[in-house]
Amino acid sequence: MAGTFDTPIRRLGTSSIKWDRCKKKFSTDKELIPLWIADTDFRAPEEVMAAIHERTDHGVFGYTFAMEDYLSAVSGWFRRRHGLETELSWIAPTYGVVTALRFTIEALTQPGDKVMILTPAYEPFFAIVQNTGRTLVECPLQRSGESWYMDFDRIEDGFRGGVKMMIFCSPHNPVSRIWTAEELGQLTALCARYGVYLASDEIHCDVELFGNRFVSLGSFENVRDLVMCYTAPGKSFSMSGLMASNLIIPDERLRTAVTGKLGDAWIMSPNIFGLVAAQAAYEHGDAWLDEELRYLEGNSLLVQEALKNTLPEVRVSRHEGTFLMWLDFSALGLGEQELCRRIVDVCGLGLGFGSHYGAQFGEFMRINIGCARPLLAQAMERLTRVRSAE
Ligand SMILES: Cc1ncc(COP(=O)(O)O)c(C=O)c1O
Repeated sequence: MAGTFDTPIRRLGTSSIKWDRCKKKFSTDKELIPLWIADTDFRAPEEVMAAIHERTDHGVFGYTFAMEDYLSAVSGWFRRRHGLETELSWIAPTYGVVTALRFTIEALTQPGDKVMILTPAYEPFFAIVQNTGRTLVECPLQRSGESWYMDFDRIEDGFRGGVKMMIFCSPHNPVSRIWTAEELGQLTALCARYGVYLASDEIHCDVELFGNRFVSLGSFENVRDLVMCYTAPGKSFSMSGLMASNLIIPDERLRTAVTGKLGDAWIMSPNIFGLVAAQAAYEHGDAWLDEELRYLEGNSLLVQEALKNTLPEVRVSRHEGTFLMWLDFSALGLGEQELCRRIVDVCGLGLGFGSHYGAQFGEFMRINIGCARPLLAQAMERLTRVRSAE
């Protein structure tokens, strides 16, 4: 498998949002190194490609649903990798995590109801709450040293004030935390006390780095009738474009409510290739993923070293999980606009601008390290130019 991750693969001209939409996204004609939207540049496991080829050769691509062997593959993966025991009936395949979250809001809350998110937050969380006419309650994470923590007092204030649902991100995009079992226990205790639905976006769960271990909220008995987990193999196995995801909802009433809402909108199973690819990844992807994680750790260390040596003012949030890193440039004193201008015009980089994750994070940047290391090294070299105005 050597070289699987280190070999750059040309994605330009493949309808890749990350590569082919980059100039438009950053309103420039310059060639940028794209390290923004959260997919990786890696080639998926051979077993995934073989499964897609085999399905292609069959030649008939009619309407499809997930059969028991698919559900067993998902269930087996979560038992093996994350110690989560699931019944097959808890698993509902669906077409994208954000879509499922959006319909969950509609299934379980009413217009005007309060929905909490922890900021900085993945951008669509703001949109799906606001676009469904619910009231967004932002609860900022607290930074201590170089890491980020939940502010339980503030969360409880919100719950006391009538929050009906929390959209939670675990591991957290963008701050790259893997929440500990103790932290999750505190959160679930609050949700149970106030009867707050817990929609847990666990799409980054497989990217566990530097010995940090992910714990699914699906394993917490005290929120059994409140919790829903949203997961997908897309981030882990470089197959986000296949739009295959799975809900894991232990409680039958909640499951029926959420899948019923998706069904009302005729949002059914993932497409045929998403299903076969996800099944192959979950059945055969362990070794590939292990290697990817080691590679991502190497990339993370490269970024940390480069910043320590060349831009020590930039604060790197402790990187525990996800292939995303959260960097604080505020000590450079550039202000949001000038920082963004320099990142694009001077450095030639396409990074995730901090303000997309919450208005107060304008001097942060999110960097996607899921790429071949030589490209990342080049990007880090370019980043040093951020000190200069042109
Ligand atoms: C936290 C999080 N949730 C969901 C998604 C997107 O999931 P999907 O493409 O399945 O809607 C992303 C992609 O960046 C993400 O980071």
